[in-house]
Amino acid sequence: MPSRQPLNVGIVGCGTISAAYLKTFARLDAVKVVAVADIDFSRAQAVATTHPGVRALTSEQLLADAGVDVVLNLTIPAAHAEVALGAIATGKSVYGEKPLATSTAEARKVVEAAATANVRIGCAPDTVLGTGIQTARKAVDDGNIGTPISAIAILGTPGPERWHPNPDFYYLPGGGPLLDMGPYYISALITLLGPVASVIGAASHTRTTRTINAGPRKGETIPVATDTHVTGVLTHASGALSTLYMSFDTVATVSARIEVHGDQGSLVVPDPNTFDGDVRLRSLGATEWQTLPVSAGYVDSSRGFGVADLAGTAEGREPRAGGRLAFHVLDVMESLLVSAQEGRVVRLESTCERPAPVPLQSLAATQPGVM
Ligand SMILES: NC(=O)c1ccc[n+]([C@@H]2O[C@H](COP(=O)([O-])OP(=O)(O)OC[C@H]3O[C@@H](n4cnc5c(N)ncnc54)[C@H](O)[C@@H]3O)[C@@H](O)[C@H]2O)c1
Repeated sequence: MPSRQPLNVGIVGCGTISAAYLKTFARLDAVKVVAVADIDFSRAQAVATTHPGVRALTSEQLLADAGVDVVLNLTIPAAHAEVALGAIATGKSVYGEKPLATSTAEARKVVEAAATANVRIGCAPDTVLGTGIQTARKAVDDGNIGTPISAIAILGTPGPERWHPNPDFYYLPGGGPLLDMGPYYISALITLLGPVASVIGAASHTRTTRTINAGPRKGETIPVATDTHVTGVLTHASGALSTLYMSFDTVATVSARIEVHGDQGSLVVPDPNTFDGDVRLRSLGATEWQTLPVSAGYVDSSRGFGVADLAGTAEGREPRAGGRLAFHVLDVMESLLVSAQEGRVVRLESTCERPAPVPLQSLAATQPGVM
């Protein structure tokens, strides 16, 4: 990967989430968007028209373009592996939206191809690099809760068809609450408690169709071909146990998104699908929760900071939002579904290092909202 600054990024997939990345890159010096592509060319053209200096290309042109250092893959999950392999085949590093692929079999091809081509893989979520999860991680590392024993991670919503105009992919294999939202929660749990050694899962789905409630297709019925409520227990290599609850079958919940418990304290961790938020500690013997000062992470971060992190990672080092973590997260999720199907404990073949902690710092050239 060329070490030029800024890193020239070509985006493949100009759908809903691309706007968030474009907004972030407008305030980051380390990253510059030079080209965009989409299977629906009009979407790429729309981005190029509103972003001076950005060229609309076909995917093939973008992958072959010598001016593109890193391909940012913002396509739907079913296309993640294909687009990543295309980028790697042209010798480019690739950073993709989560999950890394829809199966570990596909993801393995991506990881192996990248190793052979000597290019890098980065993968969302980069929310875990923000001040919320990083401050919680520092509290764990500093011994604020003593020896970590357990965690609870809960995502409970009625499903994305309420707000997403094209929610089909959420209900296809590779989607569902686990593969869609699990990466945020499991990446956070691994950041906090380390890699996972084995899992036990249980899963269900209650409806065979969902009705779109937003955009031009409002009222249209789409099929459900994946489990929409998944629960499980992750046994971390450290011995800590995380209980996971990922559901598109929950109307509402007041549970903390993540709690981590140790022998000396309990920690409330903010939503891992956001970049900041309060971390609260209750020490053994204390009568009150205390909000911890922000002590680690990228300040004012937003979607795309993982790409800047990759740009700033020294040659030979794994980016924090890196392929090894993303592969392990996918393996955890796939193993949960295998466990749910087969009713047995599944031991994981993959593992990863805990990503390097992020010291408290700012990457942004300007403040959020100033573009
Ligand atoms: N929407 C969100 O709020 C959100 C949040 C975080 C992460 N994500 C993730 O971002 C990814 C994209 O989600 P989205 O909501 O933007 O989806 P989307 O359907 O709105 O956009 C996907 C875009 O990719 C294009 N595309 C699909 N296959 C392609 C291919 N083979 N080559 C080129 N372009 C192709 C589509 O035409 C579309 O414009 C998913 O992995 C999703 O999990 C979405």
